[in-house]
Parts: sequence; structure tokens; C-alpha cells
Amino acid sequence: MIEVENLSKFFGPYPALKNISFRVEKGEILGFLGPNGAGKSTTMRILTCFFPASSGTARVAGFDVFAQSLEVRKRVGYLPENVPLYGDMTPRSYLRFAAELKGVPRRERKKHVEEIIETCGVKDMAGKLIQNLSKGYRQRVGIAQALIGNPELLILDEPTSGLDPKQIIEIRKLIKSLAGEKTIILSTHILPEVSQLCERIIIINDGRIVAVDTPDKLTEQLEKTSRLFIKVEGRADEVLGEIGAIHGVKAIHQDGELSGHGTQSLIVETEKGYDVRKEIAKAIVEKNIGLLEMRPLEMSLEDIFIKLVTKEEGGRA
Ligand SMILES: Nc1ncnc2c1ncn2[C@@H]1O[C@H](COP(=O)(O)OP(=O)(O)O)[C@@H](O)[C@H]1O
Ligand SMILES: [Mg+2]
Repeated sequence: MIEVENLSKFFGPYPALKNISFRVEKGEILGFLGPNGAGKSTTMRILTCFFPASSGTARVAGFDVFAQSLEVRKRVGYLPENVPLYGDMTPRSYLRFAAELKGVPRRERKKHVEEIIETCGVKDMAGKLIQNLSKGYRQRVGIAQALIGNPELLILDEPTSGLDPKQIIEIRKLIKSLAGEKTIILSTHILPEVSQLCERIIIINDGRIVAVDTPDKLTEQLEKTSRLFIKVEGRADEVLGEIGAIHGVKAIHQDGELSGHGTQSLIVETEKGYDVRKEIAKAIVEKNIGLLEMRPLEMSLEDIFIKLVTKEEGGRA
């Protein structure tokens, strides 16, 4: 569905994209994961024919984004980072206008727009002014706009950014419901988001692709150790020796002093594949210390970046 080869983009002398290549198969949901300024939006803008690349090629459904941009535009629905909505229009009138721009035949427009309003859950708001809608509803209208003309490919640039937790869940649900029928590329800087939605992740950092894999494999590959967060009532330092002696435990970090509530926390690093929770609980209880909490710590995006970037630099040196 998408073939990108050796794509670079310069803004003046500044290289925003440095020779990136990747493919996306039909029906796939692909996530671009990367910090701000990584080049996610730039890649998406090239794929949507918003501006051309400085060098390299990109094809959508076999059409070149530069030489055959009209064919590409017909097949792509795009939710930009900042959705340009007209506040004094209603979602219904705005979507009909978008349908006109996308070349949906006049006699099909009304039905097409009503179907999309239904799909995106904006029916109750379809007659209200866009300026009076919540950010979550505006984002739905933005996604609805991307669906106009029934494109095969959806490109969604940070579709959940700026939304509250409830709106985020709803927008993710909406995106999931579109999967299967469409090929989707979405960008985010939140790791759990791509893990939940995407089958494959491309991690972009500083204009380069640093990793491509499934969410599970990426985490597995990068996580050589697991970490446990433990909170106790009493002095954790009294069991450090016992915990440290458990097979599989690599390191213990004491998380600060005894708090005013008489609690203390520890972070225990274990080798992958060792579940030491029972033994730790036993060691703590046997010392008559209260075990208040024990949970695995997920690897954060920051941790993954640090690992990837250090690995890269190590490889180059
Ligand atoms: N129109 C532009 N002019 C100059 N620099 C730009 C422009 N658009 C993006 N950049 C720069 O290119 C880099 C990549 O930006 P972008 O693709 O927006 O990153 P992301 O979407 O991953 O946050 C950033 O350093 C950004 O400042
Ligand atoms: Mg961006």
C-alpha cells in the first residue's frame, strides 16, 4: 500500500528526515512513535502530498506522491496535527463541504455524510456550531473529514493529543473500529497508545528510523530486565540483604528515606524470565514488615529511547 524509499527532507539546511525507507501493507495499522521534532508529521505531510520530499520516493497504492499526486489524494484521508475546522459551520455542513471538495458526486453527498456522521458518533452534535463542541467531538469531526470520499488509507497525526482520558479512550475505540477496512498510519509520542492500537511500530528519532517491529517484540527485545515497584510499611533497608539474595534479582534501588507515614519504597530489578514476587513477599512478611504494594514497572518510552539511542551510538563509535 505504501512504499517509501530513501526519503529525505530539508528545511533550508536543516535535515528533518534523513534517508528513511519503510513499507506498509494493505489493511495494516502502523504507528509512528517518536518524540517531538522526530519527523513524524514531516513524513505524513509528504505522504499526503502537502509538500514534496527533498529526495527519495514515496508511493501510495502504486502512485508516486509527487508525480501522481491527484491519484494519491483521492486515496488518502488525512487528519492533520491541528485540524483546520470552521467554527461557524456545523459538523454536517462542514462535512458536506469537505465532500464537495473531495469530489463526492452531488447526489451521493448527503447519504455519504450521514453514514460518516453515524460511524464517528457525531450524530447528536451534527447540527451544532463546531466552535461550541468539546475538543473530543472536534477531533471526531476531524476524523470524519478524513473519512470523506471513502479513502483506502488514513493518515492520523497525533489523533489523541490534547484530549482528556475519557475522550482518548473514545477516539482510540473509533480508530480501532476503522481498522481492517482501512490501512491506517497514526503518530503519537505515547508508547501505550501504539501498543494498544498498532500491529507494527516504526520508532523515529531525529529524522531516522531507529526500530521497526511489533509492539511485543520491541518491548521484549529492549527489556533485558524487568522491574518491580515495592512499597512497605516500616524500614525497607532491613530486608535488602534477603531480597538481594533471591535468585534472579540483579539490583535493588532504595527509593528515598522513610516517609512521614512510615513507608518506604524499593525498585527491584530482576533478570527477564524470573518471577520473584512470591519470594520477595515472603522475605518481607517474615521480617514483620507490612507489604503495601508490589507491581511491575512498565518500560517507558523514555527508557526505550535511551536504550535505542545508546545502542546506535555504540554501534557507530
Ligand atoms: N515547515 C518547517 N520549516 C522548518 N522546519 C520545520 C518545518 N516543519 C518541521 N520542521 C522541523 O523538522 C523537524 C521535524 O518536525 P516534525 O516532522 O513536525 O516532527 P514531529 O511531528 O515528529 O514532532 C523539527 O525539528 C521541526 O522543527
Ligand atoms: Mg508532529
